[in-house]
Amino acid sequence: MKTLIICFSQTGNTRKVAEYIRDGIKEETEFCEMTDLAGVDTKQLDQYDLVGLGCPVFYYQEPENVRRFIEELPDLNDKNWFLFCTHGSVMGVIFYSMKERLEKKGIRVIGYHDTYADGTIPFYPYPTVTTGHPDDQELQEAQLFGKKIAQCGRAVLSGDTSCIENPAEVTEEWAPEEAAVFSLDFLSQVMPPLSINSETCVQCGDCQKACPVGGIDIESDPIRIQDPCIYCFYCVNVCPTCSVEADWSLTMAMAPGNYDKYLQALKDAEARGEFRWLMDPETINFDDPYFKQRKRNLEKNE
Ligand SMILES: Cc1cc2nc3c(=O)[nH]c(=O)nc-3n(C[C@H](O)[C@H](O)[C@H](O)COP(=O)(O)O)c2cc1C
Repeated sequence: MKTLIICFSQTGNTRKVAEYIRDGIKEETEFCEMTDLAGVDTKQLDQYDLVGLGCPVFYYQEPENVRRFIEELPDLNDKNWFLFCTHGSVMGVIFYSMKERLEKKGIRVIGYHDTYADGTIPFYPYPTVTTGHPDDQELQEAQLFGKKIAQCGRAVLSGDTSCIENPAEVTEEWAPEEAAVFSLDFLSQVMPPLSINSETCVQCGDCQKACPVGGIDIESDPIRIQDPCIYCFYCVNVCPTCSVEADWSLTMAMAPGNYDKYLQALKDAEARGEFRWLMDPETINFDDPYFKQRKRNLEKNE
């Protein structure tokens, strides 16, 4: 059975989980390749008997670049795929949304796996509620999932479809509505515009390389940024001189209210036996978001 794992990962959580899923698959079948989303040749995908597609949750759903990737796929009738994701507190509708779009390409989604993971969002505090995840236990669970999905993929190929799963129910009843609200259009209105500080920018190109939608061109004058943008803010995190700037005051002011929802979601997940606390949420410092910490570290090292 020829298997491929496709992975979009910025801060490494989804890639780490993908590696464990691959190890699990390899317990069952020797041939399992892994590739970044950006390197996929979609014309070659029909060569694989089983394809896994993994990404982080952004705004309670799949990141816009992953959505576009699915929409641009050729028809892959009767091909078997599985989905996996990493997320902070609320996974939302990601699997439902991806499944629906993949089915329009004729793809059968046979299994799903989600993992709690750390989050480094510039305007949010760090450490955050899920710092420390995925831990060893969650990585072992990912490996076990890999083994099981390989067994299921083989069974489905031989005509036994009894192992095919549906995505787990969405646990937060408000999540589908929020996911629908968080369109790119909405984000463009509520998120602060980014700018590049030309006095500190060293034109290294790290932000340009990191942008998943080619929205930055450091050769242009002035530098083109956020055109287009999917509001991942990874360019802010990767800039070695902290030159990708924004006025984060509004998003910072909203953080405590948002965290009330995240905390409740995690407490509910704990009660269901799906989440284990690895940090004390009382220690979260809303006055010290990740972007400030990066700036401070940079100044310390100068
Ligand atoms: C822009 C942005 C939006 C996010 N939205 C959500 C979300 O709606 N729900 C959630 O649980 N986590 C959310 N996260 C956290 C990420 O899903 C999580 O950190 C993920 O593990 C990152 O994956 P990676 O390390 O593979 O890039 C968001 C992160 C970013 C950067």
